[in-house]
Amino acid sequence: MTYSIKYWAVVPAAGVGKRMNADRPKQYLPLLDKTVIEHTLMRLLKADVFSAVAVAISEEDPYWPELDIASNEKVITAAGGKERADSVLSALKAIRTLASDDDWVLVHDAARPCITTIDIIHLINSLKTDDVGGILALSSHDTLKNVQGDFIVETLDRRHIWRALTPQMFRYGLLKSALEAAEGNPAITDEASALELKGLQPKIVEGRPDNIKITRPEDLALAQFYMEHQND
Ligand code: C5P
Repeated sequence: MTYSIKYWAVVPAAGVGKRMNADRPKQYLPLLDKTVIEHTLMRLLKADVFSAVAVAISEEDPYWPELDIASNEKVITAAGGKERADSVLSALKAIRTLASDDDWVLVHDAARPCITTIDIIHLINSLKTDDVGGILALSSHDTLKNVQGDFIVETLDRRHIWRALTPQMFRYGLLKSALEAAEGNPAITDEASALELKGLQPKIVEGRPDNIKITRPEDLALAQFYMEHQND
């Protein structure tokens, strides 16, 4: 019998989101009729490609157990870690008896609730025959400056600069070993950077600009606008 490759979603959701200045972590703030994280997880489940969604939650988080989606049969809860990369690694370990090294993992920020099935399928179709994997990203429309203190020291060639989004898609075994090798390294702010540290070159797949990360208070209004105008 041949084994067919599976797809797993991993959602780091153990951050505090200090820049929101809110009374609770940003993933639990209301957005339309639900919390941010409920939108994110429901959209991942709606894509109907994942065997399970492993969510990393802070151990002191009182909000998660209150949500119906926490008991969804496809949702697996893992303990969050100190940094985002620690949370992702913890979620990967939570599915280690279920996933095979060659399976694909799509890591997606809890704070990106506007993710569409179109983007998920586009990422998968672009990378499923790739050896390394890659990430959704956006090219830069603005001119970009390298700044030291208050002074511009260089104008960057924006044709080579992309903004990393999520999902980021890598093989289970490769991603887990790359994150384990990079443990404690503060330069690892996304999954791709852990793979880069191994000397690998993840691919860029152009994503949609509506896949924003909730970071500042005004982002909630923007996310609401996008959701009301998305029809997929
Ligand atoms: O803070 P930032 O927006 O970059 O966080 C990106 C994602 O990583 C968020 O979904 C956040 O909850 C998650 N995170 C985590 N564990 C941490 C820090 C952040 O799961 N220790």
